Amino acid sequence: MTQAINKKSVVDRPMSGIFFQGMAAMFKIRDWLRPRGVLLDEIPLKVGDTVLDWGCGPGSYIPELATRVGQNGAVIAVDIHPLAMQRVGTLAKRRGLCNIKLSLTDGVHLPDLVDSSIDVALLFDVFHMLGDQEGVLREIYRILRPGGVLAVNDPHMDQDDLAARVTRSGQFKLVKRGAHSFTFTPISGPYTEGAA
Ligand SMILES: C[S@@+](CC[C@H](N)C(=O)[O-])C[C@H]1O[C@@H](n2cnc3c(N)ncnc32)[C@H](O)[C@@H]1O
Repeated sequence: MTQAINKKSVVDRPMSGIFFQGMAAMFKIRDWLRPRGVLLDEIPLKVGDTVLDWGCGPGSYIPELATRVGQNGAVIAVDIHPLAMQRVGTLAKRRGLCNIKLSLTDGVHLPDLVDSSIDVALLFDVFHMLGDQEGVLREIYRILRPGGVLAVNDPHMDQDDLAARVTRSGQFKLVKRGAHSFTFTPISGPYTEGAA
């Protein structure tokens, strides 16, 4: 497991530690009521994929993602909060997950990731918190491979507004409006629903 420390944000700052711990406790109840796999069922993830979870928080999606991509795939857990890295690191160790990488972002950039290196990127329940939404979308566009998938959900936003904010940069087109998330693909990519 590797942990990259990137430069500090000029836009977003980590929430307080106590707030993060409270959020993590609430997510335990949320995840017990509705296991996260239900939301991942509508994402076209394959064995061997490299999937990035931007705003991973305490890691609710991480074990399920690790299982779905398998030993030959990779899960990159990205967050602005050091406590998120700590919790996901502990989770990975405890469950013996060897395909997890940790990446502490400045909130917009992931300089340790090369262009077109990611198959699937998740932005789950984080879009409303992004100070520089366009900057994050630009960074995801850079690291996503042509034909890759960007899956977005955010229960805190108007759903039409959320979809419009992702597409208006001209970098992503909407492929599918699912029950829990929107699926996009980079504009230049050959992705069509069901093909990925
Ligand atoms: C509401 S939580 C959602 C966590 C997880 N995605 C889930 O749905 O269970 C949002 C997370 O995004 C992180 N976050 C906020 N702004 C961020 C940014 N600009 N870049 C990366 N992570 C960010 C927060 O630290 C927090 O852990």
